[in-house]
Formats: sequence, C-alpha cells, structure tokens
Amino acid sequence: MIAGVLKETAPGERRVGLVPSALPLLAKAGIEVVIESGAGLAAGFPDSAFQAKGVRVLERRPEVLEAARILVQVRPLAGGPEAPVALEGMGREHVLVGLLDPLGAPAGIKALAERGTTAFALELIPRITRAQAMDVLSSAATVTGYKAVLLAAAALPQMFPMLMTAGGTLAPARVLVIGAGVAGLQAIATAKRLGAVVQAYDVRKAVKEQVESLGAKFVELPLDAGDAQDKGGYARAMDESFYRRQRETMAKVVASSEVVIATAAVPGKRAPVLITAEMVEAMPPGAVIVDVAAEQGGNCELTRAGETVTHGAVTILGPVNLPATVPGHASQMHGRNVASFLGLLVAGGELHIDLEDEIVRETLVARDGEVVHPRVREALGLPAVASSAAAP
Ligand code: NAI
Repeated sequence: MIAGVLKETAPGERRVGLVPSALPLLAKAGIEVVIESGAGLAAGFPDSAFQAKGVRVLERRPEVLEAARILVQVRPLAGGPEAPVALEGMGREHVLVGLLDPLGAPAGIKALAERGTTAFALELIPRITRAQAMDVLSSAATVTGYKAVLLAAAALPQMFPMLMTAGGTLAPARVLVIGAGVAGLQAIATAKRLGAVVQAYDVRKAVKEQVESLGAKFVELPLDAGDAQDKGGYARAMDESFYRRQRETMAKVVASSEVVIATAAVPGKRAPVLITAEMVEAMPPGAVIVDVAAEQGGNCELTRAGETVTHGAVTILGPVNLPATVPGHASQMHGRNVASFLGLLVAGGELHIDLEDEIVRETLVARDGEVVHPRVREALGLPAVASSAAAP
C-alpha cells in the first residue's frame, strides 16, 4: 500500500500532510510513502529529510497520483472545488485523506464523489478517547490559540508583563479570552506565560476548572447557559436572546480589557456575535481584538476575515489559517494525527474500510461515486438515504 504526500495547492498553506517522524507508524501498518518533491519544504522538512527515512521523492504531482493509492494533503480542496489542480488526476482508485471542509464547502465533496474518489474528511473525527491521537482539529487549535496571543502582543502598544523599571512601574496587560476550548485554553496559557492578567469565559461551565488551573480567572456572568454542552463535548448553539444577554453582561469585562482573544465557536454554525461595535468603542485606546472565529463569521461584528480593521483606537485582527503560520509544529502534530488515522484504514499493507468502526464511518464522506455522509448529504440538499455505497 502506497501513500502519496501531495504538495499543498491552497494559497498560503505551508503545512505538509505527513512528516518524517510519523513514518515508523505507517511502516508498522505496511504503508510505504512517496512524496511530491518540495511538499514539506515550507514546513521545514526538505526532501532529504524524507529520503533519509526511505521515502521515495517523485518530481511531479502526476507521478504521485500514478504511484499512490492513498493521497494525503492537508487541505486538498481549499483552493475551491473548481480549482483544477486540486482534483486533477484523482479517480476511483484513490483514497483521499485530509481537511475537506465537508460542512462548510460540501460542493468539494460532491466533486470528489463525481470522480469516484473515496474521501475521508478529518474534521469529522469524533471526539472520543480512542480518536485523540487523530484529532487534527485539536492540533490546529493548539497552534491557533498560541499564535493569536503573539499577534495580539505584537499589535498592542504596551507590553504584556508587569515590570518595575527605572522608568516607573508598568501595569500588566489585561487579556480576556472568550471561548475556552482547545484554542482558548492555549491562548490563556500563552498570555499567562507572557505575564498578562488573564480572564476567560465559556458557555460550558465544565471548563471553569481548566481555566483556573491555568492561572486565569473564570468570568461568571449572570446567565443561564443551561446544558450548554452536547454529548461530544461541544457547545450547543444558543438562541439570539441568549447571545444578546451575553453581550450585555460581558460588555463591562470587554471594556476593561486591553486584549480580547475571541475563539467562541459552535461546530457547523456561524460563530456567535458576542462583541458589537459599541462594545469595541468602550475599550481602552490601543486595545486589540484577535478574532480567530473570523473564518466562521467572527465573534466581533466588525471583524473581516483575513484583514485588520481599525475602529476608532481599537485594532481588530481577523486572521485565517493560523496553523499555516507555524507550519513546522503544526505539520508535526497534524502528520502524527494523519499517520494514526491511516493505521485504522490499513493493516498488513491492505486497505480495509471498516464501517463498523465509528471513526472510519464518521469520517467517510465519499465512496463509489456517492456522497455517503448523512450530514454532508443534508448540507448538499441530497435525499437522506445514500445508495448502497453506504453499506459495508
Ligand atoms: P470549538 O473550537 O468548537 O469552540 C471553542 C469554544 O467556544 C468551546 O469551548 C465552546 O464551548 C465555546 N463557545 C461556544 N459558544 C460560546 C459563547 N457564546 N460564549 C463563550 N464561549 C462559547 O471547541 P474545541 O476547542 O474544539 O473544544 C470543544 C470541546 O471538545 C472541549 O470540551 C474539548 O475539551 C473537547 N475535546 C475533546 C476531545 C476528545 O475527547 N478527544 C479532543 C478535543 C476537544
């Protein structure tokens, strides 16, 4: 069984789908690896690093498509489903594994299905203990939370730590983290390491302890979030009246923060708007908001994805794809996750798609010419029951 690592085709994507340190895991499953020349270069893994581990380097993409049955790319469809380079040469013989944005951009899955390609969308890996080693979203969120704080620190006209200097005492930066999932917790830890005074809020009360264990204060709002957590550990979508109350009760803490790191998200939904223009106007001059929910519409109503907005004396950053800005470690984690996932599909060098396995079943989005995942079918407006392709 040969897995081929393709060079990323999306603009600005500097990660690579597999890294040399993940190769022993693949060898164990009987998977041999080939890579497209230069695939790992931007992430700090030159061809020679792969070659040293026995990987064959192929000059061009078509050669990889020819040699490999399994195709690995971080974001194969991110150039858009019509981007010809992304899908060219993919066919029935291929099994594509990557971040496919199946719910955000389901047309890409349809395009893959039309080619007969079997496709696994790694975003859909269930959050169960057995799948932890494959959790690419946590890997990406870890980098996102870290980098968001660095962006804030670089944009803020003051330093983060409290300093007693010959020029007087400098007050520490006050940082508010909204949403304490994987990215938010990493943001808290990073802001603390830089010396800020950190507070955080999440609708899921369960995270209070984690926030406090990182040395931050959990903001208590007079809000009844009820059962805000679904069985997968994710936040449920609340109604607009809840979000309105949240904005009202959070206004004071936002107004007293020099930095807000906004990470609040609800899977498959637009991110809730939690910071209005009016709330921004009440922030201290020079304040910075880093809205990492920008790609899902943003937690701040002024956010523009991929842009920096200045509103009065406040700067609002809406960075996209932060993991690609720390491509070495992001690829290291992602690549290990992918290798663990491939270990589910291949044993003894044989491909076996076992639909009895929850992780396999939940991530399989296209097979035998059909979109087979119920939620993706729904997103595409296709009838609920897939053809026999969904059967084992
Ligand atoms: P996410 O990226 O979907 O959302 C970020 C955070 O925003 C979440 O903590 C969510 O509760 C919060 N949020 C949503 N609406 C909000 C609002 N109105 N105000 C404030 N905060 C709001 O979440 P992420 O980082 O993917 O983690 C979600 C959960 O999944 C966590 O409980 C995490 O521990 C769990 N998890 C479980 C794993 C496993 O068991 N293998 C692996 C990774 C995460």
